[in-house]
Amino acid sequence: MFAPRAASASFGKPDLYREMAAELHALLSGEADVVANLANASALIFDRLPDLNWAGFYRLRGETLVLGPFQGKPACVRIPVGQGVCGSAVARRESIVVPDVHAFPGHIACDSASNAELVVPLVHTDGSVFGVLDLDSQIQARFDADDQAGCEALAAIIVRHLTSAVPA
Ligand code: SME
Repeated sequence: MFAPRAASASFGKPDLYREMAAELHALLSGEADVVANLANASALIFDRLPDLNWAGFYRLRGETLVLGPFQGKPACVRIPVGQGVCGSAVARRESIVVPDVHAFPGHIACDSASNAELVVPLVHTDGSVFGVLDLDSQIQARFDADDQAGCEALAAIIVRHLTSAVPA
């Protein structure tokens, strides 16, 4: 049974992400179903990271990102590569931290409560893109370099499980 630890005041972000990485690894190990794993990963992230109003995945289908498992309000289903924060992260093949989404040209507003965003591309070792991990917050400048590094580590665990899992 999954039993997350309560965060304490002295518990810094890198420590939190290290714990989350161990939890995520345990959660995904032994399961090959992609939807189940992405659903549990989004639930873990949404539960453990404070001040999120959306956390989830888009999967790349051709030149379009298609909504995958997530936590939060219903979201836009299709995002073309190169558009919005998510499509830009895929086009650049790098994470994008947006302190104020209203200042990001072409930002796609799914939930009007969102003010900050962090998008991490999920890239296989052969360079092909699986999709993105997308986090939204109602708090401006919610995401910093620690969040980027922590979420990139989580994304690496997810990609590793996508490629190493034995299909059911
Ligand atoms: N804001 C994103 C769209 C996805 S939602 O935030 C869930 C973007 O600009 O790509």
